[in-house]
This record gives sequence, C-alpha cells and structure tokens, in this order.
Amino acid sequence: MDKPYGYFFGGTMQLEVKTKDKIYPLILERGAIRHIKDYIQLNGEAFLISDTGVPKEYKEIILEQFPEAKLFEFKQGEASKNYRILESIHEAMLEAHLSRKDYVIALGGGVVGDISGFAAATYMRGIRYINIPTTSLAQIDSSIGGKTAIDMGKKKNCVGAFWQPDAVIVDVDTLKTLDKRQFHNGLAEAVKAGLIKDKELFSLFEKGKIEENIEEIIERSLRIKKEVVEKDEREQGERKLLNFGHSYGHAYESYYDFDQYLHGECVAMGMMTILKNEEIKERLKIVLEKLELPISCEADKGEIARLVMHDKKADHNTISIVQVDEIGKAHLEQWSMEEIRSHLG
Ligand SMILES: NC(=O)c1ccc[n+]([C@@H]2O[C@H](COP(=O)([O-])OP(=O)(O)OC[C@H]3O[C@@H](n4cnc5c(N)ncnc54)[C@H](O)[C@@H]3O)[C@@H](O)[C@H]2O)c1
Ligand SMILES: [Zn+2]
Repeated sequence: MDKPYGYFFGGTMQLEVKTKDKIYPLILERGAIRHIKDYIQLNGEAFLISDTGVPKEYKEIILEQFPEAKLFEFKQGEASKNYRILESIHEAMLEAHLSRKDYVIALGGGVVGDISGFAAATYMRGIRYINIPTTSLAQIDSSIGGKTAIDMGKKKNCVGAFWQPDAVIVDVDTLKTLDKRQFHNGLAEAVKAGLIKDKELFSLFEKGKIEENIEEIIERSLRIKKEVVEKDEREQGERKLLNFGHSYGHAYESYYDFDQYLHGECVAMGMMTILKNEEIKERLKIVLEKLELPISCEADKGEIARLVMHDKKADHNTISIVQVDEIGKAHLEQWSMEEIRSHLG
C-alpha cells in the first residue's frame, strides 16, 4: 500500500505505478542514485544515456555501480531530440550487443528521458529502461506516464510511443546543481498540478520557502501524475486535465519559436491567460511572481488564437480547454475558435 505523506521525510518513499502492461516502482529518496541496486534487480547489461549538461559526477556515480555499462552521451538541449541522435543511440546499442534482457538507463532531464525511452521502445521491438530524472521538470512531469518521443524540426514530440519504464528513481539532491531558471521552469508544472488536483500542494507555494518544501512538492506532484496516468494511460479523459495552461502555453512556445521562453514559462503564461476565476488568478499571479515565472507577454493575439487551434489536441473545430473551478478542482470544456479569440480580448 502507498505510504502516507510525510513518510518521505528523512527516508524513502516507494510507490507502485500500475499501468495496463506493467507495474513498476517509483522511488523518491535523497541520495538514491548512489545505491540503485538496492531498488532494482538488474539481470542484464546496462546502457547509460545522458547529455553533456548533466554533471559528470552523477554519471560517475552510476558507472561505479555498473562498471560494465556503456555510456552514450549527446549534446545537451532540445535540438538533440531528433532522428539523427536516435539513430546513433541505436547504433551504439547494437555495437554493445544489447538484447531484450538488458536495460537502458536514462540519466538527465526530459530530453534524455524522452529520447532514451523512445530508443528503448523501438530497439528490438522494445527493451527495458530505467528513468533517473535530474531536472525539476523531469522529476515532476515527465518521469512517469510512459510518453516517449523525438521532435521533427519544430514539430515537438511528433514521433514517439507510449513505453513504460521498469523503474523511476527520483533523487531530489540532483536538483542542487540545476540553475535557478531551469529549477523554476519545472515547478510551473507542480503549480499546475496543485491547481487542478491538490490545494495543499498549491498552498505549499503560497507559504514558506520553496526549497524547504521541495520534497513534498515533488512527492505530491508525482502522486497526482501517478493517479491520473493509472486511470487514463492514453489520455482519453482524466489525463487531459494535466493540459491545464498548455493550450495557450504551446501556442506561446511556437510563437516564440521555442527560443525565448522555456516550456514551464509558457505554461505559466498559459495558465494566466486561460483562467477565468479572478480570485484564483490573483493567487496564481503571486505564486508565479514568487517563482520568477512570466505571467504575460506581448504576443499577437490573433496569431496566438490561430496557434491554439493548430495545437495537436484540437479536435475538428473545437479544442479541449481545462478550467479550474476552485483550487484543487478542474473540469474540461470544449471551446470554438470564436471563444478562443474572444477570450484573448
Ligand atoms: N514525456 C513526458 O511526459 C514529458 C513531459 C514534459 C516534458 N517533456 C519533455 O521534456 C523536455 C524538457 O525537459 P527539461 O526541462 O528537463 O529539459 P532538458 O532535458 O533539456 O534539461 C535542461 C538542462 O539541464 C541540464 N541538466 C539536467 N540535469 C541537470 C542537473 N541535475 N544539474 C544541472 N544541469 C542539469 C541538461 O543538460 C539541460 O541542459 C522537452 O523535450 C519536453 O518535450 C516530456
Ligand atoms: Zn507541460
């Protein structure tokens, strides 16, 4: 049975993520990357994938535990989430004679997680992989859920697969080396999770210091993601709620050519744009400012409305929009192009 909140402090929290094909452990523990073998029984070879921005120290910690493991490293950044790098990963896996009993270990942010997961999903029709997320965004939002993908130019995540990991190990200590902008970027997703599902989580951002509450913030965010993913693995219903702030958020990302703002920053602006309830909006604004996240931008409204309708989640002439009724409670609405446009004012 899942342990109650607070068990995590000073210890280990272990949850089981139950998906259609697989049940896998999700471990949260400071320092967990130092003793992975206590949590997972590897009965094959390990193949470690990381990028150049992940501190060397973490790669060494993993390699010390798996001396036989090969390390594949690629240049940090979203631009690496492409076919070319995927092909080099597959070639290196083949060279290392990796077979279905072996494991891919992904160590890094969402870019490493997405491409490694997809490489594992497609190599020999799918091999096992262990995800060790090291950014706040990856720990909060992309480590569980089974979405893996690469980009095609500016078309984000358009080639991918649902492929569940065999274990996810979240070590909050790895966030110490992350720069402040990246750290806050990931927290936008936790603010979102609080708004749609957990008022206690949202209030952690309103009171006290973020760093002091970071374990509980991550724990609560992961519990929400786990609960939603278990109910709706393929995003048919409930999982769509996690897209709160993302319709406009994705539009802002495209408008600025994925250059000026990070994903969480666009989600922050997207949440501010979509929220109708003025009282919640005021509370959200205070939280986002505390996290030094942007709350608005000068993007052209007509162009944003057009981009919202072109988002991949647009269905015929309407689009699913998430609204928050009260903090911790949200619902889905269908909006037309006219509503999208007039909402922008
Ligand atoms: N699969 C999913 O469900 C899902 C969900 C959300 C986002 N994503 C994807 O995640 C990606 C974004 O992830 P991200 O924000 O983690 O970006 P990222 O992976 O590019 O990481 C940001 C930067 O931090 C560096 N880094 C990683 N860990 C570090 C550490 N501990 N200390 C210092 N530097 C570190 C990386 O090298 C990189 O330069 C996008 O491609 C997005 O599409 C996937
Ligand atoms: Zn997101």
